[in-house]
Amino acid sequence: MNLPLYGTNDATFAAAGGATGIRRLVDAFYDIMATDAEYEKILKWHPTDLEESRDRLARFLCGWMGGPNEYEEKYGTISIPGAHSHLAVTERERDMWLGCMRQAMDAQSYPEDFKEYLMKQLAIPAERVRQVCEINSKTP
Ligand code: HEM
Repeated sequence: MNLPLYGTNDATFAAAGGATGIRRLVDAFYDIMATDAEYEKILKWHPTDLEESRDRLARFLCGWMGGPNEYEEKYGTISIPGAHSHLAVTERERDMWLGCMRQAMDAQSYPEDFKEYLMKQLAIPAERVRQVCEINSKTP
């Protein structure tokens, strides 16, 4: 059996179920964040109405996974570390975000190897976010 080469062309986007599958993943992500007390701290950093946050993250992930750049079409260019630099993300909040994403993935019918691949890939920008927030917190 040929394993899909996630990361090549749009294999990741396709495995995630395209724009519809990503929207479902992001909805699960924010539904979990909004209801699980474990994520209360990062939930509170978001606007009360999560509709736009859902739209922004889903559109961003579309392009990030090799699909159409839906984020730029609607909101313009973005730097992920820059978009978070006003937040106090430490290892704890980084791991909350990743933990919430892992729970959201577990609620999808994704194969285990795909979930592991995606988690490893998402850990890279999540760590960049933490680093930039740390530098910012030390700059007077
Ligand atoms: C490291 C842990 C992370 C935390 C705690 C976090 C938290 C947040 C918060 C609180 C917002 C809303 C900001 C606001 O409205 O002022 C936000 C926005 C956003 N986040 Fe994250 N995030 C994290 C990592 C990531 C990662 C790894 C990605 C993408 C791979 C991502 C993608 C986005 C996007 C696209 C937005 C919308 C930003 C905009 O359009 O300005 N986040 N995040």
